[in-house]
Amino acid sequence: MITFNEKTRIFHLTNKSISYYIYLNQEQRLEKLYFGPYLSEISNADAIRKANVDNNSTQFYDDKDHQEKTFLDQFKSNYALLELSSHGVIDKRGAPIILRYKDGSRITEFLYVEHRINQGILPLKDMPHALDHDDAETLEILLKERNHNVYVKYFLTIYKDKDILVKNFEIINHEKEEVQIERAFSMQLDLPCMDYRLVHFSGRWAKERDYKVNDIVDGVQEVTSNYGRSSHEENPFVYLMEKNATMNHGEVIGFNMIYSGNFKWRSFTDYFHNLHITYGINDEDFLWVINPNESFVTPQCVISYSSKGVDKMSQNFHAFIKENLITYPYEKDYKPILFNSWEGCYFDFTTDSIVSYIDDAKKIGSELFVLDDGWFGRRDNDYDGLGDWYVNEKKVDLHRVIEHCHKQNMKFGIWFEPEMVNPLSDYYQNNPHCILKEDNNPLTIARHQFHLDFSNPKVVDDIYEQMVKILDAYEIDYIKWDYNRVVYETYSYAFGKERQGEIYHRLVLGYYSLLSRLIERYPHIMFEGCASGGGRFDLGTLYYCPQIWCSDESDPIQRMFIQYNTSLGYPLSTMGAHANANPITSYQTKAQIALFGTYGYEMNPNRLSEKEMEELSEVAKIYKEYHQSVIENGTLYHISSPNETNFLGLQSVSKDQSTSLFLFMNLLKDGDRYRFVRLQGLDPEAYYWNSYDQQTFKGEYYLKVGMNFSRDWFDEFRCLLIELKRVEN
Ligand code: GLA
Repeated sequence: MITFNEKTRIFHLTNKSISYYIYLNQEQRLEKLYFGPYLSEISNADAIRKANVDNNSTQFYDDKDHQEKTFLDQFKSNYALLELSSHGVIDKRGAPIILRYKDGSRITEFLYVEHRINQGILPLKDMPHALDHDDAETLEILLKERNHNVYVKYFLTIYKDKDILVKNFEIINHEKEEVQIERAFSMQLDLPCMDYRLVHFSGRWAKERDYKVNDIVDGVQEVTSNYGRSSHEENPFVYLMEKNATMNHGEVIGFNMIYSGNFKWRSFTDYFHNLHITYGINDEDFLWVINPNESFVTPQCVISYSSKGVDKMSQNFHAFIKENLITYPYEKDYKPILFNSWEGCYFDFTTDSIVSYIDDAKKIGSELFVLDDGWFGRRDNDYDGLGDWYVNEKKVDLHRVIEHCHKQNMKFGIWFEPEMVNPLSDYYQNNPHCILKEDNNPLTIARHQFHLDFSNPKVVDDIYEQMVKILDAYEIDYIKWDYNRVVYETYSYAFGKERQGEIYHRLVLGYYSLLSRLIERYPHIMFEGCASGGGRFDLGTLYYCPQIWCSDESDPIQRMFIQYNTSLGYPLSTMGAHANANPITSYQTKAQIALFGTYGYEMNPNRLSEKEMEELSEVAKIYKEYHQSVIENGTLYHISSPNETNFLGLQSVSKDQSTSLFLFMNLLKDGDRYRFVRLQGLDPEAYYWNSYDQQTFKGEYYLKVGMNFSRDWFDEFRCLLIELKRVEN
């Protein structure tokens, strides 16, 4: 998959579907030649590289013989497409790495030393990372800073059967003195054209991942989070689409980062209209010190390439996330239907009321009961309790609840918010420096809670000890891991003043360290991520948690947009989705939407009527029949976007093409009239029965003619969940 031609000095990474070419020029710099659909050879690098620049190369003045000279190989250092731009010199596009040495210099120029080709992908220590199953190769290039003993290892992985690349850097200090890292992005990708639109997903609480499209503009454009988490405000998943690209046509390049903290995706276009993309940990409030012989490893960036439109880019990500990222050992298995207590009773429950919830939850098909916030410390409202992780025995007999749940043949799960503390809690009262704060500054409080200083391993240990006591004493099958505020005062008393620029990243490492220790100790527990809904929906979290609560917005119409947009970058199986008590639509509609995720419920089940129970049980049956093959392990097609049309159309097809579910939801009743809606992913030669008009057609008919919706009346929010099953003709 990866070759280096000594003669032409060209690296070629290919899986016969995509190609990535790098040229090692005579100046020992890495120039990007090509990234796109498979290209069998580039015999003459100059044919490409000289087109990118005007033919003159950059001149330099040689002090030794007082002469102006031309860079070798006619290298044009400011406009060549590069793999790793320099800082402090002629290249003004924004280097991915900026260092400051003891002498104050910040010139950072890395030149090639050697390379090797590794089988597989190299795991990162203490950080989530991509996995391989003998299906990847990694090019590892060692570069040295021109004037300092600082090295960079540039890792670039290609997968055999997925159009996915993974990039990151390791910065190694072999100087005798410390070196400061002012910027440590994970990648650079230079493209020879700027005719793209940028799709990114900004939002807020209960409106996560809103679809936004901007033209790539001249100059700089950024998508960032500086909230300490991947955030509601922007998601680390973004993509570029060629200006005329659609769901099924045109070039689309997706980006994501295996990381849960601050990030910065940045594009810069130069006057040749080259597009220079860098991506990594946000450099705002970042300053990392590496001592001699230490190194800093950046998180991995994942790039998905499609020359066949948005859907293929999404499908690449879906397959990669399911097969090469999530470490949960039962990922490909059936995910139980989850009942969550939160919206049904909030903090107000007793042992008896929870037992009666469990009984009724069972009746609508639930297989996992989750007791949300309120079971611990003095937690009767959100002013107290966080940080005091012991069961509030006055309020709830947890042994009885769990026993009852397990007797009903249901799993039992519980809520934690490990990174937070309330000022009234015993833990905070006894450890006033356990939080992020700077004594001279006002201390921001949000939802009556402080952010624990998870950069301090002692604080992480304390919380670990408390959690272990509970998890050893109670049979718990699932944990919902919440995170309900962002980081403000980023100051840690565990570190000296020169290390404060490290705190944001150290908080993320603390999060990962607690999660991984718990997972190692309790491998049977399934963790679900959460952050005031979907404020930490990212690849870093998915490495540990196979699903993430998608949003606190469960009202079906808003939810539908959130789920649709999330599914452009993340598999349905990762999206926690519940039917709730909102009166806007029927339970059936709400359940059908939730079914295109990891299905669950969130309401007071004692209040459901017989009819509502029946409706929900029917959808639960469909989930049980189809979830594993169609939703969990199937292929997703975005048939129609609610961002652009009057209806949402999502179709998922099992790998063997024998079954499919098609979710159709109408928005405005006076919107478009539908005639035919073409489906995808079916075997054109096979015959399929469909549950909409109960007819059987050949696969090619659904693909080419489509389902005939023109005889139907589509009221506001009318929702259809259509099953398709292969039948013998
Ligand atoms: C957050 C979560 C909710 C719920 C509450 C409990 O807002 O997103 O689902 O768990 O916390 O306090």
